[in-house]
Amino acid sequence: MSLKSVQRKRQYDSPKYRAFWKAAQIRLYLSPKHRFSEMKKNLKNVQFHDSILSTIGRTPLVRIQKVNKGCKALVLAKLEYFNPGGSVKDRIGVEIVEEAEREGRLKPGGTIVEATSGNTGMGLALAAAVKGYHCVFTMPDKMSIEKIRLLRALGAEVIVTPTAVPHESPESYTEVAKRIVRETPNSILANQYYNPRNPDAHYRSTGPEIWEQTGGQVDYFVCAIGTGGTITGAGKYLKEKNPNIKVVGVDPKGSVLREYYYTKKFSPVFKTYKVEGIGQDYVPGVLNFQYVDEVVEADDKESFLMGRRLAREEGLLVGGSAGTAMAGALKVAERLPEDTLMVVLLPDTGERYLSKMYNDDWMREHRFLVPERITLRYIVESKRGTPGLVSVDPVTTIRSALDLTSQHHVSQLPVIDKGKCVGSVDESDLMSTVINTPSMVDAPVSKVMKDPFPLVHKDEQVQSAVAYLSKTYPAVLVEEDGKIEGIVTRYDVIQYMSR
Ligand SMILES: Cc1ncc(COP(=O)(O)O)c(C=O)c1O
Repeated sequence: MSLKSVQRKRQYDSPKYRAFWKAAQIRLYLSPKHRFSEMKKNLKNVQFHDSILSTIGRTPLVRIQKVNKGCKALVLAKLEYFNPGGSVKDRIGVEIVEEAEREGRLKPGGTIVEATSGNTGMGLALAAAVKGYHCVFTMPDKMSIEKIRLLRALGAEVIVTPTAVPHESPESYTEVAKRIVRETPNSILANQYYNPRNPDAHYRSTGPEIWEQTGGQVDYFVCAIGTGGTITGAGKYLKEKNPNIKVVGVDPKGSVLREYYYTKKFSPVFKTYKVEGIGQDYVPGVLNFQYVDEVVEADDKESFLMGRRLAREEGLLVGGSAGTAMAGALKVAERLPEDTLMVVLLPDTGERYLSKMYNDDWMREHRFLVPERITLRYIVESKRGTPGLVSVDPVTTIRSALDLTSQHHVSQLPVIDKGKCVGSVDESDLMSTVINTPSMVDAPVSKVMKDPFPLVHKDEQVQSAVAYLSKTYPAVLVEEDGKIEGIVTRYDVIQYMSR
């Protein structure tokens, strides 16, 4: 044994050295990482993700069946609300954070800052929560309150800035975000509008998913444009696979992107619109029109109404920009032949817009919801929870009829005999009769009843009932298939109108 190895052996055998190793082993054993890898050895057939971040992507394609009536092409919706943060932006959040970590720009305890319409914030906040970073987001004030609350729920700080200012104004959400980064040590700007990781994320996930899910048979890919990350990244991938695939962008009316695509010029005036997350007053750095074949437009009303139809007719609870994407996609799909396969990307969940596009008052206030044809069916159904049709027959006594009116808080009673309305009584008339002639209280209502209420079919418009109600009748009866189904009074119509 050489002198050196004898010396080393002595060193390893020393009590000090052994104590050091024992402490190190205990520390290692106690570390959550070690315990987890030990535990993992015993976990067979247990299926789980290491963290929420690996559940991002692989969103489903679902066939559109109703809102595309008249289109021959097969239209498939890619449902990005299946991502854990509820939007397509989860894909870029984790990508941007991990790149900044790899480059050493984001260090433990660091802060992620971003100007976001909400969804990118969610994606970044998920990554930050798992990896232990702090987030500060700036958001324009047109964004829904739900988005602000969601970001705060994930631990982010949210600063609300004015919407109606140009993007270069110091007050704009992008400029405020830049200032926060300058003033915050150990912080990074996620910078989705200029960060190449944004389109890269779609090049590496969204594009390949669409290609694989359609077995390479996709003919058209349609998506709304915000930063342009989705259309640029997924469009690039799909065109590399097959240059004949057509990539269509949808721009909300008021944005400058469509005009710029066709004329290479901007209108000097930027008009605001209500759809969130898409459209711009300039061309973002990551948007590359090289991969785009066509840009179509959809306005706020079309977008919100289409979004609501997707929810009610297809069961897809999506946001307003999904309505924009689908409304634009269908303008293209209308002219396509039968054997065409179109994929439309629906960016986020509608749960974020319950106070807006899914709120009838908000829709009416902004003139997006104009009741085109309100039928009596709607009024009868909206009275659910009330006692329904309260009636008497001709032999019911005036006393019982008065009891019924006070019990059910109604003032009009149809008199029904063998399923037919043969007359009507009114609470105040019944009371006058009893006050004037008390002995009449036990007389049958047939003695005092007036003309029957008019019968109107359930599918008639409200106006046809109003014509009767404003004349002599206090109520109309609503029938379907010869059966009396309900009653609509003057009060019901006024209630409906005031709503
Ligand atoms: C709701 C919503 N839809 C669509 C988009 C557009 O996606 P992209 O920025 O990749 O163009 C965004 C982007 O922020 C969004 O928030």
